[in-house]
Amino acid sequence: MVDSINEADRKTQMSDHQRSVLLNTGARMPLLGLGTWELRGIETLRLIVDAALAAGYRLFDTAADYQNEVEVGQALRELLPKHGLSRADVFVTSKLGPRDQGPMASEGCQRSLDQLDLDYIDLFLVHWPGTQGLRVEDPQNKVNRAQTWEILEDFHSRGLFRAIGVSNYTVRHMEELLASCKVVPAVLQVEFHPRLIQKELRALCAERGVCFEAYSSLGTGALLSDPAVLEVASGCKRNAAQVLLKWAVQQNVPVLPKSCNPSRVLENGQLFDFELSQENMKKLTSLDNGQRFDPEDPTVVV
Ligand code: A2P
Repeated sequence: MVDSINEADRKTQMSDHQRSVLLNTGARMPLLGLGTWELRGIETLRLIVDAALAAGYRLFDTAADYQNEVEVGQALRELLPKHGLSRADVFVTSKLGPRDQGPMASEGCQRSLDQLDLDYIDLFLVHWPGTQGLRVEDPQNKVNRAQTWEILEDFHSRGLFRAIGVSNYTVRHMEELLASCKVVPAVLQVEFHPRLIQKELRALCAERGVCFEAYSSLGTGALLSDPAVLEVASGCKRNAAQVLLKWAVQQNVPVLPKSCNPSRVLENGQLFDFELSQENMKKLTSLDNGQRFDPEDPTVVV
């Protein structure tokens, strides 16, 4: 079967349901989101958020560690009216930084709300299984994770975080959390691309109703020159970034492409008017070799 670009689909606006996934909270989360890592300063955020809203992105992913929550909040406030949108039309994700794990978690959660200047955050994640300043083998990491999750549950129960979840957790961290939590995490956000297909983690998430979400779909840019990716791209007349993003989205895995270039933001959003053939999906999946491009390895955190 060849990759089809269905003209009828191209002309028909897809419904929000086709462009989103259902979370275990009952809320829907868009499949396409803007990653904002390394986007700094209000001028940059204005430019990129504007391009993203115009291109149909409705999810914006930031984090305390990205040091841009203030600018992301400001850009959204300024630009939503221009696009005829209101707060409820967008889905905002932020994350608690490793320095705020454990005793500092409550302050960290409140700080994200204050910096974004929002009444609520749609999804709030624990960014990393370890605590900054502790050695990876320190058992206090586990104690701090448990304490942090209870704080997130409290913010969730007060409606300040509509959904809560985790990022960079491994199977071991997830099993520990799932065994003790009162609120099952809504989302696990991890590195995911054809070289790192995270089979075990995905199966665990599917079994426990946790939405599996991807970051670094482009392998931080490195996969854009992979010969197999380029071959698929040329066969379906798309570019390598679109193929890599579509490979995830076609498996119902939300993606968070980041770019500081408005035209790339636009092209990265053009994912809903073509399909990859099963043959090409398999070809991409067969590239799996467990390679991480993120220099930090969460598997070593006790
Ligand atoms: P830039 O911001 O200069 O566009 P990942 O999402 O895997 O972390 O990859 C992000 C990297 O990929 C960034 O360095 C970004 O660079 C680059 N990038 C994002 N979209 C594209 C694209 N469509 N074509 C080429 N490079 C891209």
